[in-house]
Formats: sequence, C-alpha cells, structure tokens
Amino acid sequence: MGELIVPALSGITLTIEQGQFIAVLGPSGSGKTTLLNIIGGIDRSTTGKISFDKNGEKADLTSLNEKNLTKYRRLNVGFIFQFYNLVASLTAFENVELAAKLTSPSDEARTITKELLEEVGLGDKINKFPAQLSGGEQQRVAIARALAKKPRILLADEPTGNIDSETTGKILKLLQRVNENHRVTIILVTHNVGISTLADRVIYLRDGKIFGTSKYDPAKEKEFWEELTIVPPIDTTG
Ligand SMILES: Nc1ncnc2c1ncn2[C@@H]1O[C@H](COP(=O)(O)OP(=O)(O)O)[C@@H](O)[C@H]1O
Ligand SMILES: [Mg+2]
Repeated sequence: MGELIVPALSGITLTIEQGQFIAVLGPSGSGKTTLLNIIGGIDRSTTGKISFDKNGEKADLTSLNEKNLTKYRRLNVGFIFQFYNLVASLTAFENVELAAKLTSPSDEARTITKELLEEVGLGDKINKFPAQLSGGEQQRVAIARALAKKPRILLADEPTGNIDSETTGKILKLLQRVNENHRVTIILVTHNVGISTLADRVIYLRDGKIFGTSKYDPAKEKEFWEELTIVPPIDTTG
C-alpha cells in the first residue's frame, strides 16, 4: 500500500497430505484468503516455494509460467466461494457441466454432472436457475461444480459465511462426505470455530503467520481466541 509494505503472509511452512480435511482459522485480515489463493494458483507469492505433488511428480508452483499455472488450476483445483459464483444465465446442470467439460469428453461430462447433482441432493432441481434456488442449494451446485473436474484439491473460502446455521451443518456434512468419497484434499477457510471440529487438522493463522496447528483441540482454540481479545494499553493523556 504505497510506501507501506503489508506482508499478507510470511514465514509459512506447511505440508498438507493428500486426502486431508484442513480448516484454516483466523480473524479477518490474518491472511486466510491469500494462503488459499496461493495454494490454488490464483495469486503468486513474492518469495518462497510451493510444491504440488501428484502421483510422485512434484511441480513447483512458484516456477510455473502463467499458462502452466492456469493448467495446474484447471486440472487440479476446485474452488468454492462464499457467494457461490454460479453463472446466473445457466441452469444448475449447465453450471456443473461447464466445469465437467474441462476435463472430460461431452457425454461423460453429462453423466458426471447428473451423478454429482444427485450426490449433493439436487437430483430434482437440475434444470433450475441459480435465482430459483436457496443459498444452501446454490452452494450445493457450487460444490458439485467444484468436483466436476475431479480435482485433487478443493479450496473453500468461507463457504458457509452467507448461510444459516442449520444449512451450514448440512453443507459441512456434505463436504465431509465428499472428502471421504472422492479422496479429495479439502482446505476450508472459516472464522466459524464450530466448523473446525470437523477437520483432521486446524491451522490457526494470525497476522500472516501460523500461530499453531493441531488436531482439533478445544484448549488450543480457547487460547487462540482469548489472546486475541487482549486490548493494548491506550494512552489517554492526549
Ligand atoms: N491486494 C492487496 N493489497 C494490499 N493488501 C492486501 C491485499 N490483499 C490482502 N491484503 C492484506 O493482506 C492481509 C491478509 O488479507 P486476506 O488474505 O484477505 O485475509 P483474510 O482472508 O484472513 O481476511 C490483510 O492485512 C489485507 O488487508
Ligand atoms: Mg478472506
């Protein structure tokens, strides 16, 4: 920002194993989205190294050119966003099919699309447009779309940030099921503490640094949020 350098992330060292369900937890501005976007090849880091291991083949994301980074993203990474980002002029089926066609021939793409929409519980709504679906349903379509290209990694940035708590529970259970059934690695960003109980591992971010990582642990959780509420001494003399 002008003269001021804001390191969105610094000193991050992290290994995520295939098939894990990771929750990234941290207050607003702690670098969660930046971390996700760097892993997903949407953003690039200025320094450091990010490697992606596929069947023993290692790719260094930091050294890929734009074309190959796009290819990495297209073939390996599925994204789920807070505001669903469905194409409004396409039906649920067409939204998912569009993504399926990125990695599969047309008839196979149609089969995959149908199966996925059934899997997320929308078998009877495949011809609805996004505006005819509830928030939770739209997010289900978005999950099906993210899976349609059979990605290795599913990145979800506050996927339930705009959804009521009951629907949130259902969406999370769906993600858990998807994690198991498709053996896809899930990295889910949230500031909802409850969500992190579902994860294999929680990564706590603060000020662009890893504050800690753990198997979900209520004590750790408490410490993390308690320290956050400490207010620095205020100079009242002026
Ligand atoms: N394009 C940008 N330019 C300047 N600062 C940015 C930019 N994007 C993010 N930041 C800053 O980087 C930090 C991390 O942001 P972000 O990754 O969006 O955090 P979170 O998702 O945890 O809210 C914040 O301090 C934010 O203000
Ligand atoms: Mg964010």
